[in-house]
Amino acid sequence: MSEQQSVTPQAPLFSSAVLRRLTLIGGVVLATALAFAYAGGWLTPGRLTPARIVEALSERGGNPLGHRRNHSKGACFTGVFDANGAASRFSVAPMLATGHYAVVGRFAIAVGDPDALDLTGRVKSMAIRIVAPDGQEWRSGMNNSPVFVVSNPRDFYDLTLAQDVDPTTGKADPAAVKRFFASHPQSSPFAHWAQTADWTASWADQTYNGLNAFRFIDAAGNSRLARWSMRAAIQPTPVPHDALAKLGPNFLEQDLNSRVSQGPLTWHLILTFAAPEDPSNDATKAWPPNRQEVDAGTLVVQKAETEADGPCRDINYDPTILPAGIAVSDDPLLPARSAAYAKSFDLRAAESADYPRTAPHAGDRR
Ligand code: HEM
Repeated sequence: MSEQQSVTPQAPLFSSAVLRRLTLIGGVVLATALAFAYAGGWLTPGRLTPARIVEALSERGGNPLGHRRNHSKGACFTGVFDANGAASRFSVAPMLATGHYAVVGRFAIAVGDPDALDLTGRVKSMAIRIVAPDGQEWRSGMNNSPVFVVSNPRDFYDLTLAQDVDPTTGKADPAAVKRFFASHPQSSPFAHWAQTADWTASWADQTYNGLNAFRFIDAAGNSRLARWSMRAAIQPTPVPHDALAKLGPNFLEQDLNSRVSQGPLTWHLILTFAAPEDPSNDATKAWPPNRQEVDAGTLVVQKAETEADGPCRDINYDPTILPAGIAVSDDPLLPARSAAYAKSFDLRAAESADYPRTAPHAGDRR
Protein backbone atom coordinates (compact mmCIF):
# COMPACT_ATOMS: atom_id res chain seq x y z
CA MET A 1 0.00 0.00 0.00
CA SER A 2 1.49 3.35 -1.00
CA GLU A 3 1.88 6.11 1.56
CA GLN A 4 -0.69 8.20 -0.29
CA GLN A 5 -3.28 5.47 -0.15
CA SER A 6 -2.84 4.99 3.61
CA VAL A 7 -3.81 8.68 4.40
CA THR A 8 -7.56 8.43 3.93
CA PRO A 9 -9.31 11.81 4.59
CA GLN A 10 -11.10 11.70 8.02
CA ALA A 11 -14.92 12.03 7.83
CA PRO A 12 -16.01 15.29 9.57
CA LEU A 13 -17.36 14.67 13.10
CA PHE A 14 -20.57 16.66 12.35
CA SER A 15 -22.21 17.40 9.06
CA SER A 16 -22.59 21.11 8.30
CA ALA A 17 -26.35 20.90 8.97
CA VAL A 18 -25.72 19.45 12.46
CA LEU A 19 -23.06 22.12 13.11
CA ARG A 20 -25.53 24.86 12.18
CA ARG A 21 -28.08 23.39 14.56
CA LEU A 22 -25.51 23.13 17.40
CA THR A 23 -24.44 26.74 16.84
CA LEU A 24 -28.06 27.81 17.01
CA ILE A 25 -28.66 25.89 20.27
CA GLY A 26 -25.44 27.33 21.74
CA GLY A 27 -26.60 30.82 20.78
CA VAL A 28 -29.97 30.33 22.47
CA VAL A 29 -28.30 29.01 25.66
CA LEU A 30 -25.88 31.96 25.72
CA ALA A 31 -28.66 34.50 25.11
CA THR A 32 -30.74 32.95 27.93
CA ALA A 33 -27.75 33.04 30.31
CA LEU A 34 -27.09 36.68 29.40
CA ALA A 35 -30.76 37.55 29.91
CA PHE A 36 -30.67 35.98 33.40
CA ALA A 37 -27.39 37.76 34.17
CA TYR A 38 -28.91 41.07 33.01
CA ALA A 39 -32.10 40.53 35.00
CA GLY A 40 -29.99 39.68 38.06
CA GLY A 41 -27.99 42.90 37.62
CA TRP A 42 -24.66 41.04 37.20
CA LEU A 43 -23.80 42.71 33.89
CA THR A 44 -24.76 46.19 35.05
CA PRO A 45 -23.72 46.62 38.69
CA GLY A 46 -24.98 50.24 38.73
CA ARG A 47 -28.47 49.33 37.47
CA LEU A 48 -31.40 49.68 39.84
CA THR A 49 -33.06 46.28 40.37
CA PRO A 50 -35.97 45.23 42.63
CA ALA A 51 -33.44 43.20 44.64
CA ARG A 52 -31.30 46.27 45.23
CA ILE A 53 -34.29 48.37 46.32
CA VAL A 54 -35.51 45.66 48.69
CA GLU A 55 -32.00 45.17 50.11
CA ALA A 56 -31.82 48.89 50.89
CA LEU A 57 -35.30 48.78 52.47
CA SER A 58 -34.14 45.86 54.64
CA GLU A 59 -31.29 47.84 56.18
CA ARG A 60 -33.24 50.44 58.11
CA GLY A 61 -32.84 48.78 61.52
CA GLY A 62 -34.45 45.90 63.39
CA ASN A 63 -34.78 42.36 62.11
CA PRO A 64 -37.05 42.28 59.06
CA LEU A 65 -36.65 38.53 58.43
CA GLY A 66 -40.03 36.97 57.71
CA HIS A 67 -41.69 40.38 57.42
CA ARG A 68 -42.60 42.90 54.75
CA ARG A 69 -39.55 44.97 53.81
CA ASN A 70 -41.52 48.19 53.99
CA HIS A 71 -44.57 49.01 56.09
CA SER A 72 -43.14 46.18 58.18
CA LYS A 73 -45.33 46.62 61.29
CA GLY A 74 -49.06 46.20 60.94
CA ALA A 75 -52.28 44.32 61.67
CA CYS A 76 -54.83 42.49 59.52
CA PHE A 77 -58.53 43.25 59.12
CA THR A 78 -61.48 41.74 57.32
CA GLY A 79 -64.74 43.25 56.21
CA VAL A 80 -66.79 44.15 53.16
CA PHE A 81 -66.92 46.83 50.51
CA ASP A 82 -70.52 47.97 50.05
CA ALA A 83 -70.57 49.46 46.54
CA ASN A 84 -73.39 51.94 45.92
CA GLY A 85 -73.11 51.66 42.12
CA ALA A 86 -72.32 55.38 41.60
CA ALA A 87 -68.90 54.61 40.04
CA SER A 88 -70.10 51.84 37.72
CA ARG A 89 -70.73 54.31 34.89
CA PHE A 90 -66.99 55.11 34.90
CA SER A 91 -65.66 51.54 35.06
CA VAL A 92 -66.78 47.99 34.36
CA ALA A 93 -64.89 46.77 37.48
CA PRO A 94 -67.30 44.21 38.99
CA MET A 95 -66.78 45.47 42.56
CA LEU A 96 -68.05 48.94 41.60
CA ALA A 97 -71.49 47.57 40.70
CA THR A 98 -74.00 47.80 43.58
CA GLY A 99 -73.29 44.92 45.98
CA HIS A 100 -71.20 43.60 48.88
CA TYR A 101 -67.68 42.34 48.23
CA ALA A 102 -65.31 40.56 50.61
CA VAL A 103 -62.23 42.49 51.78
CA VAL A 104 -58.99 41.38 53.43
CA GLY A 105 -56.87 44.35 54.45
CA ARG A 106 -53.95 45.51 56.51
CA PHE A 107 -53.13 48.64 58.50
CA ALA A 108 -49.44 49.43 58.90
CA ILE A 109 -46.81 52.06 59.55
CA ALA A 110 -44.19 52.77 56.89
CA VAL A 111 -41.13 51.56 58.79
CA GLY A 112 -38.51 48.89 58.07
CA ASP A 113 -38.40 47.43 61.59
CA PRO A 114 -41.34 45.12 62.43
CA ASP A 115 -40.78 45.91 66.13
CA ALA A 116 -40.60 49.69 65.71
CA LEU A 117 -42.41 51.86 68.26
CA ASP A 118 -45.74 53.05 66.86
CA LEU A 119 -44.75 56.67 67.52
CA THR A 120 -42.09 56.37 64.79
CA GLY A 121 -44.75 55.75 62.14
CA ARG A 122 -45.10 59.14 60.48
CA VAL A 123 -46.81 57.49 57.48
CA LYS A 124 -49.73 55.19 58.27
CA SER A 125 -51.20 52.93 55.62
CA MET A 126 -54.15 50.81 54.61
CA ALA A 127 -53.90 47.97 52.09
CA ILE A 128 -56.98 46.22 50.71
CA ARG A 129 -57.93 43.34 48.49
CA ILE A 130 -61.52 43.48 47.24
CA VAL A 131 -62.73 40.26 45.62
CA ALA A 132 -65.64 40.06 43.15
CA PRO A 133 -67.84 36.92 42.86
CA ASP A 134 -66.17 36.04 39.54
CA GLY A 135 -62.77 35.97 41.28
CA GLN A 136 -61.46 39.28 39.93
CA GLU A 137 -59.46 41.25 42.48
CA TRP A 138 -58.62 44.87 43.18
CA ARG A 139 -55.55 45.24 45.38
CA SER A 140 -54.39 48.61 46.61
CA GLY A 141 -51.89 50.07 49.07
CA MET A 142 -52.71 53.59 50.32
CA ASN A 143 -50.90 56.03 52.60
CA ASN A 144 -52.23 58.79 54.85
CA SER A 145 -49.97 61.42 53.25
CA PRO A 146 -51.66 63.60 50.59
CA VAL A 147 -48.71 63.11 48.17
CA PHE A 148 -45.89 60.60 47.82
CA VAL A 149 -42.35 61.53 48.76
CA VAL A 150 -40.79 60.88 45.32
CA SER A 151 -41.94 60.50 41.73
CA ASN A 152 -39.62 57.76 40.45
CA PRO A 153 -37.87 54.57 41.63
CA ARG A 154 -34.32 56.03 41.52
CA ASP A 155 -35.25 58.78 44.00
CA PHE A 156 -37.07 56.19 46.15
CA TYR A 157 -33.87 54.13 46.26
CA ASP A 158 -31.67 57.15 47.07
CA LEU A 159 -33.99 58.18 49.90
CA THR A 160 -34.01 54.62 51.25
CA LEU A 161 -30.20 54.49 51.19
CA ALA A 162 -30.17 57.77 53.13
CA GLN A 163 -32.29 56.07 55.84
CA ASP A 164 -30.14 52.94 56.09
CA VAL A 165 -28.45 52.12 59.38
CA ASP A 166 -24.65 52.40 59.21
CA PRO A 167 -23.28 49.02 60.42
CA THR A 168 -20.30 50.72 62.08
CA THR A 169 -22.37 53.11 64.24
CA GLY A 170 -25.60 51.06 64.39
CA LYS A 171 -27.52 54.25 63.58
CA ALA A 172 -28.95 56.06 60.56
CA ASP A 173 -27.40 59.40 59.66
CA PRO A 174 -30.09 62.12 60.00
CA ALA A 175 -27.91 64.46 57.92
CA ALA A 176 -28.22 62.08 54.94
CA VAL A 177 -32.03 62.43 54.91
CA LYS A 178 -31.69 66.23 55.24
CA ARG A 179 -29.30 66.22 52.27
CA PHE A 180 -31.79 64.16 50.26
CA PHE A 181 -34.63 66.63 50.85
CA ALA A 182 -32.38 69.63 50.19
CA SER A 183 -31.40 68.21 46.80
CA HIS A 184 -34.92 67.02 45.79
CA PRO A 185 -37.25 70.03 45.74
CA GLN A 186 -40.09 67.89 44.29
CA SER A 187 -40.16 66.09 47.67
CA SER A 188 -40.95 69.29 49.59
CA PRO A 189 -44.79 68.93 49.52
CA PHE A 190 -44.35 65.58 51.31
CA ALA A 191 -41.74 67.06 53.70
CA HIS A 192 -44.12 69.93 54.54
CA TRP A 193 -46.91 67.43 55.32
CA ALA A 194 -44.56 65.29 57.45
CA GLN A 195 -43.48 68.31 59.49
CA THR A 196 -46.89 69.87 60.00
CA ALA A 197 -49.61 67.18 59.93
CA ASP A 198 -51.28 66.25 63.21
CA TRP A 199 -50.24 62.98 64.83
CA THR A 200 -53.03 60.73 66.05
CA ALA A 201 -53.09 57.53 68.11
CA SER A 202 -55.30 55.59 65.70
CA TRP A 203 -55.44 54.00 62.28
CA ALA A 204 -59.22 54.50 62.36
CA ASP A 205 -59.29 58.30 62.04
CA GLN A 206 -57.00 58.55 59.01
CA THR A 207 -57.83 59.03 55.32
CA TYR A 208 -55.71 56.85 53.08
CA ASN A 209 -54.73 57.91 49.55
CA GLY A 210 -53.82 55.71 46.59
CA LEU A 211 -51.54 58.54 45.29
CA ASN A 212 -50.67 56.85 41.97
CA ALA A 213 -52.98 57.57 39.02
CA PHE A 214 -54.94 54.79 37.31
CA ARG A 215 -57.26 54.57 34.29
CA PHE A 216 -60.95 53.84 34.74
CA ILE A 217 -62.51 52.25 31.66
CA ASP A 218 -66.26 52.23 31.09
CA ALA A 219 -68.49 49.85 29.11
CA ALA A 220 -68.03 51.90 25.92
CA GLY A 221 -64.23 51.70 26.27
CA ASN A 222 -63.80 55.35 27.36
CA SER A 223 -60.80 55.77 29.66
CA ARG A 224 -60.48 58.39 32.39
CA LEU A 225 -57.53 59.15 34.66
CA ALA A 226 -58.32 58.91 38.39
CA ARG A 227 -56.84 58.60 41.85
CA TRP A 228 -58.68 57.20 44.87
CA SER A 229 -58.84 57.61 48.62
CA MET A 230 -60.45 55.83 51.57
CA ARG A 231 -61.95 58.74 53.51
CA ALA A 232 -62.37 58.08 57.24
CA ALA A 233 -65.89 58.46 58.59
CA ILE A 234 -64.59 59.85 61.89
CA GLN A 235 -62.62 63.06 62.48
CA PRO A 236 -58.94 62.73 63.49
CA THR A 237 -58.14 63.34 67.16
CA PRO A 238 -54.78 65.17 67.27
CA VAL A 239 -52.31 63.95 69.92
CA PRO A 240 -49.02 65.80 70.59
CA HIS A 241 -46.13 63.61 69.46
CA ASP A 242 -44.56 63.67 72.97
CA ALA A 243 -47.77 62.23 74.43
CA LEU A 244 -47.65 59.19 72.13
CA ALA A 245 -44.66 57.82 74.06
CA LYS A 246 -46.91 57.35 77.11
CA LEU A 247 -49.23 55.05 75.14
CA GLY A 248 -46.68 52.22 74.86
CA PRO A 249 -45.01 50.61 71.83
CA ASN A 250 -48.14 49.12 70.19
CA PHE A 251 -50.92 51.64 70.76
CA LEU A 252 -52.18 51.44 67.15
CA GLU A 253 -53.11 47.75 67.26
CA GLN A 254 -54.57 48.17 70.77
CA ASP A 255 -56.71 51.08 69.58
CA LEU A 256 -57.85 49.10 66.53
CA ASN A 257 -58.86 46.06 68.61
CA SER A 258 -60.71 48.17 71.14
CA ARG A 259 -62.64 50.13 68.48
CA VAL A 260 -63.57 47.06 66.41
CA SER A 261 -64.78 45.25 69.55
CA GLN A 262 -67.35 48.05 69.94
CA GLY A 263 -68.60 47.99 66.32
CA PRO A 264 -67.49 48.23 62.70
CA LEU A 265 -65.31 51.06 61.37
CA THR A 266 -66.11 52.71 58.04
CA TRP A 267 -64.41 54.59 55.23
CA HIS A 268 -65.82 56.00 51.96
CA LEU A 269 -64.07 55.08 48.71
CA ILE A 270 -63.72 58.39 46.86
CA LEU A 271 -62.63 58.44 43.20
CA THR A 272 -61.14 61.72 41.97
CA PHE A 273 -61.09 62.27 38.20
CA ALA A 274 -58.28 64.29 36.62
CA ALA A 275 -58.59 67.39 34.48
CA PRO A 276 -56.55 67.25 31.25
CA GLU A 277 -53.69 69.26 32.80
CA ASP A 278 -53.26 66.98 35.86
CA PRO A 279 -50.15 64.78 35.86
CA SER A 280 -50.62 61.03 35.46
CA ASN A 281 -47.02 60.18 36.31
CA ASP A 282 -46.02 62.31 39.29
CA ALA A 283 -47.29 61.21 42.71
CA THR A 284 -45.43 64.10 44.42
CA LYS A 285 -48.01 66.51 42.98
CA ALA A 286 -51.51 66.88 44.43
CA TRP A 287 -54.29 67.55 41.93
CA PRO A 288 -56.26 70.76 42.58
CA PRO A 289 -59.10 70.29 45.09
CA ASN A 290 -61.99 71.12 42.72
CA ARG A 291 -61.80 67.95 40.63
CA GLN A 292 -64.84 65.74 40.06
CA GLU A 293 -65.26 63.28 42.94
CA VAL A 294 -67.45 60.18 43.09
CA ASP A 295 -68.28 58.34 46.32
CA ALA A 296 -68.20 54.71 45.17
CA GLY A 297 -69.30 53.07 48.43
CA THR A 298 -68.34 52.17 51.98
CA LEU A 299 -65.56 50.00 53.32
CA VAL A 300 -66.78 48.32 56.51
CA VAL A 301 -64.01 46.93 58.75
CA GLN A 302 -65.60 44.24 60.92
CA LYS A 303 -62.77 42.23 62.45
CA ALA A 304 -59.12 42.84 63.40
CA GLU A 305 -56.49 40.10 63.64
CA THR A 306 -52.80 39.99 64.41
CA GLU A 307 -50.45 39.93 61.48
CA ALA A 308 -48.58 36.84 62.69
CA ASP A 309 -51.48 34.50 61.94
CA GLY A 310 -54.01 36.77 60.26
CA PRO A 311 -55.32 36.47 56.70
CA CYS A 312 -53.38 39.48 55.34
CA ARG A 313 -49.99 38.05 56.15
CA ASP A 314 -49.54 36.14 52.92
CA ILE A 315 -51.13 38.65 50.58
CA ASN A 316 -48.91 40.70 48.33
CA TYR A 317 -50.76 44.03 47.99
CA ASP A 318 -49.32 44.61 44.53
CA PRO A 319 -51.10 47.73 43.22
CA THR A 320 -51.01 46.46 39.63
CA ILE A 321 -53.39 43.56 40.41
CA LEU A 322 -56.55 45.13 39.07
CA PRO A 323 -59.92 44.01 37.72
CA ALA A 324 -61.08 44.65 34.16
CA GLY A 325 -62.18 48.30 34.03
CA ILE A 326 -59.20 49.65 36.03
CA ALA A 327 -55.73 49.83 34.46
CA VAL A 328 -52.33 51.22 35.40
CA SER A 329 -51.29 54.67 34.15
CA ASP A 330 -47.81 55.63 32.94
CA ASP A 331 -46.71 56.42 36.51
CA PRO A 332 -43.18 54.92 36.80
CA LEU A 333 -43.73 54.07 40.47
CA LEU A 334 -46.28 51.39 39.58
CA PRO A 335 -44.06 48.82 37.80
CA ALA A 336 -41.31 49.49 40.36
CA ARG A 337 -43.77 48.83 43.20
CA SER A 338 -45.00 45.62 41.59
CA ALA A 339 -41.47 44.24 41.15
CA ALA A 340 -40.28 45.28 44.63
CA TYR A 341 -43.38 43.90 46.40
CA ALA A 342 -42.86 40.54 44.65
CA LYS A 343 -39.21 40.45 45.74
CA SER A 344 -40.16 41.36 49.31
CA PHE A 345 -42.89 38.69 49.28
CA ASP A 346 -40.49 36.02 48.03
CA LEU A 347 -38.01 36.84 50.78
CA ARG A 348 -40.47 36.92 53.64
CA ALA A 349 -42.27 33.77 52.48
CA ALA A 350 -38.99 31.86 52.53
CA GLU A 351 -37.79 33.21 55.91
CA SER A 352 -40.12 31.19 58.06
CA ALA A 353 -37.96 30.28 61.09
CA ASP A 354 -39.44 32.62 63.70
CA TYR A 355 -42.55 33.38 61.67
CA PRO A 356 -44.17 30.00 61.00
CA ARG A 357 -46.42 29.84 57.99
CA THR A 358 -49.59 27.81 58.05
CA ALA A 359 -51.37 26.14 55.17
CA PRO A 360 -54.59 28.24 55.01
CA HIS A 361 -52.86 31.41 53.82
CA ALA A 362 -49.94 29.95 51.89
CA GLY A 363 -49.61 30.63 48.18
CA ASP A 364 -51.96 33.61 48.15
CA ARG A 365 -49.92 35.65 45.74
CA ARG A 366 -49.80 36.35 42.05
C1 HEM B 1 -40.94 52.89 43.91
C2 HEM B 1 -41.79 53.11 44.89
C3 HEM B 1 -42.11 52.11 45.97
C4 HEM B 1 -41.42 51.00 46.38
C5 HEM B 1 -40.11 50.45 45.84
C6 HEM B 1 -42.17 50.40 47.47
C7 HEM B 1 -41.80 49.25 48.15
C8 HEM B 1 -42.59 48.56 49.04
C9 HEM B 1 -42.33 47.23 49.54
C10 HEM B 1 -41.12 46.38 49.18
C11 HEM B 1 -43.35 46.89 50.37
C12 HEM B 1 -43.55 45.56 51.09
C13 HEM B 1 -44.43 44.65 50.21
C14 HEM B 1 -44.69 43.25 50.76
O1 HEM B 1 -43.76 42.57 51.24
O2 HEM B 1 -45.86 42.80 50.66
C15 HEM B 1 -44.25 48.00 50.40
C16 HEM B 1 -45.40 48.06 51.13
C17 HEM B 1 -46.31 49.06 51.02
N1 HEM B 1 -46.23 50.20 50.23
FE1 HEM B 1 -44.79 50.66 48.96
N2 HEM B 1 -43.31 51.15 47.69
C18 HEM B 1 -43.29 52.20 46.79
C19 HEM B 1 -44.24 53.17 46.65
C20 HEM B 1 -45.40 53.22 47.35
C21 HEM B 1 -46.46 54.19 47.15
C22 HEM B 1 -46.48 55.28 46.07
C23 HEM B 1 -47.42 53.91 48.07
C24 HEM B 1 -48.71 54.62 48.34
C25 HEM B 1 -49.58 54.91 47.45
C26 HEM B 1 -46.99 52.74 48.81
C27 HEM B 1 -47.72 52.12 49.80
C28 HEM B 1 -47.39 50.92 50.40
C29 HEM B 1 -48.24 50.25 51.35
C30 HEM B 1 -49.60 50.72 51.84
C31 HEM B 1 -47.56 49.09 51.74
C32 HEM B 1 -48.02 48.05 52.75
C33 HEM B 1 -48.80 46.98 52.05
C34 HEM B 1 -49.22 45.96 53.07
O3 HEM B 1 -49.80 46.35 54.09
O4 HEM B 1 -48.97 44.79 52.81
N3 HEM B 1 -45.77 52.35 48.35
N4 HEM B 1 -43.76 49.03 49.59
